[in-house]
Amino acid sequence: MRTNYCGEIDLSYIGRRVVLCGWVSSYRNINKIIFVNLRDCYGIIQITFSNIDVNLFKKAKKLRNEYCIQVSGIIKKRKKPNRNLLTGNVELSVSSLKIINKSDPVPINLEKENSEEIRIKYRYLELRKKNMLKNLFKRSEIINFTKDFMKSEKFMFIETPILTRSSKEGARDYIVPSRIHKSKFYALPQSPQLFKQILMISGVDRYYQIAKCFRDEDLRSDRQPEFTQIDIEMSFVNSKQVRSIMQKFIKHLWRKFKKYEFDSFPSITFNESMTLYGTDKPDLRNPLKLNNVSKFFNKEKIISKYNFEDEATIISIFVDDKHNNIKMCHMDKYKCLSKKFGVKEFFCIKLDSVILENEKYNKIFQFISKNSFTSMISKFNSKKYNLAFFCFDKKEIVYKFMGFFRKKIWKDLKIKSKNVWKPVWITDFPMFSINKDGKLCSVHHPFTSPKCLNDLYTTNPTDIISDSYDMVINGYEVGSGSSRIFKKKIQEKVFELIGVDEKQKNNQFNYLIEALKYGAPPHAGFAFGLDRLVMLIVKSKNIKDVIAFPKTTEAVCTMTDSPSKVSNKLLNDLSLKIG
Ligand code: AMO
Repeated sequence: MRTNYCGEIDLSYIGRRVVLCGWVSSYRNINKIIFVNLRDCYGIIQITFSNIDVNLFKKAKKLRNEYCIQVSGIIKKRKKPNRNLLTGNVELSVSSLKIINKSDPVPINLEKENSEEIRIKYRYLELRKKNMLKNLFKRSEIINFTKDFMKSEKFMFIETPILTRSSKEGARDYIVPSRIHKSKFYALPQSPQLFKQILMISGVDRYYQIAKCFRDEDLRSDRQPEFTQIDIEMSFVNSKQVRSIMQKFIKHLWRKFKKYEFDSFPSITFNESMTLYGTDKPDLRNPLKLNNVSKFFNKEKIISKYNFEDEATIISIFVDDKHNNIKMCHMDKYKCLSKKFGVKEFFCIKLDSVILENEKYNKIFQFISKNSFTSMISKFNSKKYNLAFFCFDKKEIVYKFMGFFRKKIWKDLKIKSKNVWKPVWITDFPMFSINKDGKLCSVHHPFTSPKCLNDLYTTNPTDIISDSYDMVINGYEVGSGSSRIFKKKIQEKVFELIGVDEKQKNNQFNYLIEALKYGAPPHAGFAFGLDRLVMLIVKSKNIKDVIAFPKTTEAVCTMTDSPSKVSNKLLNDLSLKIG
């Protein structure tokens, strides 16, 4: 139907006859000439209809936006080039027009941002937008690149089942009723975790998969209920070797798609990350750090003033606001924010001589002597700073708030540098934490190995460190992995610690425990969130922009109207009842 794509026509085509197909992107009728921007998957070109050919002109007058058409004619040089179009030096002078299909006026604005509901309901129109198509192209190229990389590193592509049982990744499962086995359900995989471990037991040395994962959890801008992982597992390796290959992949990916060379790929422990940044996903482009300054303060006074039951922690952030971007109104907002986090006390201090010499100007001097304040300033080399923020409360609250505040103030300081990428490995997560029901649970998943196996028998569970690692780039967790338990006894001990009883163990994990009996090799692995990687590479802030058919924040597809009700007959067939 066509000789070329719209976007590939350039000056070398002048004088040539081409046939193009696509959609009317814009239409202008200026007296004797009609100008149309014709769009296809590869770009836009201006096409013109002159009134010299009366019949053609009459037909062209009927064109409207989003009509699907075929045109042929000769490529000419444009009198006034359009620098905004890649094909802006040329145009097609049309000699024949076929209207393949008309279009109703489209219900969405193809030039601007639409509401989430509309963007998903009319996804096919939304995807016609240049940026959306570009994102899908990029995603496809990244997948191709991944496949080439994995092949060159001797990884085998293996698919694992979608109809399976819970993989215990920590979210809720999506379940599918079985018709044949009444009252029984499959679970959609939250990840292929146990299948990839079992593949190692089968003797597959290096596995990878571009795997669909399903998790019923609260959604955010970087979370979808259905997402894609680049899932990896390797035998006879330690976690360092896995990290090294994953790091190589990311370096190559950024070199190829961002023309960017990482200058370093640091690694910090979970504890370091929490104390320095108040989060396990630190954005290292942000130079601000949290400082524990508790020892400089009169803690007795603080404890009695705020009725703390035990320890009070005081965290500060020192800031060099060179350009005076932080104004009094910001300070008031910060105080309000701290209240929202339930923080007991938050001080904003301008480190200028007036304040420092006249302690009465700031309430903070009820809790710290001038001498201590001065030694704190010199300890943290804070002379170069002109603002200081202090937060008083219990440890968890101050770190949570100051971790959040570190991001907020960095934004307000307007010192963000463009096109800078800061990756970091976060290692040594705690093996267990206490969940909101007061029960011990795994921080990663229960198949993660502790760093020291003996600790499972000798150490307080919440103090045990796991051999796990997350990769974070510019504040986004792009991937996560660990070395795995490969001994039956150790796996059983972990199940015991997290309260998986004998019945549950036999029901849910029997196949893993069984498989571990037959010479399981040491193995470790990792999974990248593909959607998050693509989102970063195309510079979006929402993974919906890089997924062809995403769900809304309420986990709904407004195009297909799913989830949807099913007929009573189907429910009867499945022996299910609506509650
Ligand atoms: P984890 O649960 O950390 O680990 O997931 C790995 C990576 O997948 C991405 N991710 C998501 N992306 C979009 N939407 C979601 N709802 C979502 N959830 C996770 C993140 C995350 O870092 N089986 C283990 C991996 C392993 O141990 O090998 C796992 O799935 O980028």
